[in-house]
Amino acid sequence: MKVAVVKESLAGERRVALVPNCVPTLVKAGLEVLVQSGAGQEAGFLDQAFAEKGATIVPSRDDAYAADIVVQIRAAGADANQGAADRTRIRQGQIVIGTCDPLGEAQAVAEFAKSGAALFSLELIPRITRAQSMDVLSSQATIAGYRAVLLAAMELPKMFPMMMTAAGTLTAARVFVVGVGVAGLQSIASGRKLGGVVSAYDVRPACREQVESLGGKFVEMLLENKGAEDKGGYAKAMDEEFYRKQRELMASVVAQSDVVITTAAIPGKKSPLLITADAVRGMQSGSVIIDLAAERGGNCELTKADQRTIVHGVTILGPTNIAAEVPQHASQMFANNVTKFLLNLVKKGELNLNLEDEIIRDTLVTRGGEVVQSRVREILGLETKPAVA
Ligand code: NAI
Repeated sequence: MKVAVVKESLAGERRVALVPNCVPTLVKAGLEVLVQSGAGQEAGFLDQAFAEKGATIVPSRDDAYAADIVVQIRAAGADANQGAADRTRIRQGQIVIGTCDPLGEAQAVAEFAKSGAALFSLELIPRITRAQSMDVLSSQATIAGYRAVLLAAMELPKMFPMMMTAAGTLTAARVFVVGVGVAGLQSIASGRKLGGVVSAYDVRPACREQVESLGGKFVEMLLENKGAEDKGGYAKAMDEEFYRKQRELMASVVAQSDVVITTAAIPGKKSPLLITADAVRGMQSGSVIIDLAAERGGNCELTKADQRTIVHGVTILGPTNIAAEVPQHASQMFANNVTKFLLNLVKKGELNLNLEDEIIRDTLVTRGGEVVQSRVREILGLETKPAVA
């Protein structure tokens, strides 16, 4: 079987779904690896490096799409324009693997289904121990959390560490992280490493210990949050009254912070609005908000996706593809995830579409001309039925 990696086309998407070091592992598993020329260039992986590891370089996207399996960072709804253009290249029985935003852009997935190809959405990897090495949301969120702190440090008109110098004492930057998932934890760790004084809050009570183990302070809020976590470890959506109280209680912490990094998300839903325009007005001029939830509407009322907003001296950034700003390591991690996923899907060079395996079942969104993933079917208003065997 042939597996191909294509060049990404979304503006600013500098990552690539496979890196040269993964090629020997895939070849050993019985796969032939094709690389669209230039696919890894923006991440620092040149064609020659892929070729040296045993891949075949092909000149065009069409050539890459001739493979049995195509891997990409963004497929279907995760790059709607290219996804639509690629539909003419996809054929019945082919396999496409990548992130494809099936919960946010279910209609694009439904369009893809008509091709008859199988689409695997890596965002839907279940959060089980066996799948940890395939979890692209975690690997890319780690990068995002780190990068958000660097971005804030560059924007802030202050330094992060406390310094006692002959020219006077500089106080440490106060960093507040909202949402302590994978990105939030990495922001806490990175903020501390830079010398900031870090505090954090999450609706999931289990986060307190994690925040403290990283040297951060967990912000206590008198909010009734029983049942805030689902069995997958994700936050559940709370009612509007809860968010209203949270906004109110958080405003004073926000006002005292130099940097606020927000990462609060509910899978498949709009991000909760946690920082109002009034709360921003309560911040000191020069403060910075990095809203990592911008792709799903943002946690801050004033966030504009991928734009810089400055309101009476407070800078608000809402980057939607921040992992792509660290393309080499982001690609390396993504490629390792994809490789582990492929090793689970292909046995001895043959496809092993074992629907008893929850990793395969949960991520398979289209097959045989239909959307087969139950959560996506539900969003599309289709009758829910088990994935086709
Ligand atoms: P996410 O990106 O969906 O959300 C980010 C964070 O926002 C979560 O921690 C969530 O609780 C928080 N949040 C939601 N609403 C909030 C609100 N109103 N106020 C404050 N915070 C709010 O989540 P992510 O980062 O993907 O991970 C969620 C959990 O899953 C974490 O506990 C993580 O450690 C766990 N996990 C488990 C894995 C496994 O077992 N294989 C793999 C990866 C993550």
